Amino acid sequence: MSTPPHATIPRPTEPTAPPDPPEPAEPAESAEHTESTASPAVREDLLTVRDFQAEARRKLDPVYYDYVAGGAGDEATVRANEAGFARLNLLPRVLRGSAERDLALTVLGTRASMPVVVSPTAFHRLVCAEGELATGRAAARAEAILIASMASTVAVGEVAAAARAAAPDRDPALWFQVYLQPDLQDTLVLVRRAAAAGCTALVITVDSPVRGVHERSVRNGFHDLPPGLACENMRGLRDEEPGVVRQIGMSAKLDWDDVDRLRAHTKLPVLLKGVLHPEDARIAVERGVDGLLLSNHGGRQLDTVPATIELLPEVAAAVGRRIPVLLDGGVRRGTDVVKALALGATAVGIGRPLVWGLAAAGEQGALRVLELLRAELDHTIALCGARGLQDLTPDLVRPAPTGGVR
Ligand SMILES: Cc1cc2nc3c(=O)[nH]c(=O)nc-3n(C[C@H](O)[C@H](O)[C@H](O)COP(=O)(O)O)c2cc1C
Repeated sequence: MSTPPHATIPRPTEPTAPPDPPEPAEPAESAEHTESTASPAVREDLLTVRDFQAEARRKLDPVYYDYVAGGAGDEATVRANEAGFARLNLLPRVLRGSAERDLALTVLGTRASMPVVVSPTAFHRLVCAEGELATGRAAARAEAILIASMASTVAVGEVAAAARAAAPDRDPALWFQVYLQPDLQDTLVLVRRAAAAGCTALVITVDSPVRGVHERSVRNGFHDLPPGLACENMRGLRDEEPGVVRQIGMSAKLDWDDVDRLRAHTKLPVLLKGVLHPEDARIAVERGVDGLLLSNHGGRQLDTVPATIELLPEVAAAVGRRIPVLLDGGVRRGTDVVKALALGATAVGIGRPLVWGLAAAGEQGALRVLELLRAELDHTIALCGARGLQDLTPDLVRPAPTGGVR
């Protein structure tokens, strides 16, 4: 089992608890530096997200590769997310004068250079020594929205500082993802830290009343962060527990009122991540939620859930453009981004592709993944005869009669 010099933290020989997020390990010294340290060069032949996945697989400890690649149960939903895009064709328009294409947008007050956001993923220091510092810099350089995970191995304040240092001429486009903690006060501490770091929106993940079970990780005996890594946002969460990393709580007791209670304590716009049923989307709008991230957690929570791209038309219809609907799950190509936007998404999120980039070549790898998706998106928009995001309309997408090609 080879581990690359830059990439992985050696895992413990006898890990002990469940993943995504696992029980936290003992606190590590927090990384305070914000300057980029040596990030390995990106191999020129890594041209696609698939290439980065193969490179990540080659470089990573197989146990960590499985943790990232895997999903819940039979991984039916992991496969469905990608297959869902493959079952759609694009039907382009021509001769519409699309010499200049604008990919920029503003979502809930946050400006971004393209409609590809970094979805929250845990534990980046498992795959790259700099972890979320590298992610923060890459997203800032790409001017892409980064949704920092509550289960990050670098504290959100440090991620924000790294992003600011990488792109000093603008505020980082940083959002923060939280799991509502059983005790509201704990969630509020996290929210205050995120706001102090400069996060401009909160993303509440609501698809995790209990932890997903990832059988690959169970079989691999991977249940815990290795020594030296911790969920840094959880450090010192309660006054009486200075410096202690608390377990990230999941609670099946939470309901809509808990979302309202949190919203009453913050001025930040709140998006819900993991709403899938159109009826829940309708309730979210009626309750005054500011946005949705249509997500099945990359197939890591309830297995056999439909592909998010399949659910998008129904959810978009339920929401009726009253609030932005973002989508993640299976986005691997610029054509996928166009399909999602044409069917009503404001932007898409990428989870695993960003992690493949980090694993392949740290900050530079993550940046390359974002830039290749930008280039593919721009190219696809041009080939669709569109002048920008506003021209991506549902008529450009058709079901593929034979199941589609990829
Ligand atoms: C390794 C890994 C860790 C994740 N950690 C989180 C997390 O901490 N919080 C969360 O809301 N979603 C988490 N997710 C789900 C992602 O935010 C996203 O929904 C999913 O990865 C999108 O699918 P994709 O990987 O096919 O792009 C994680 C996904 C992966 C692969």
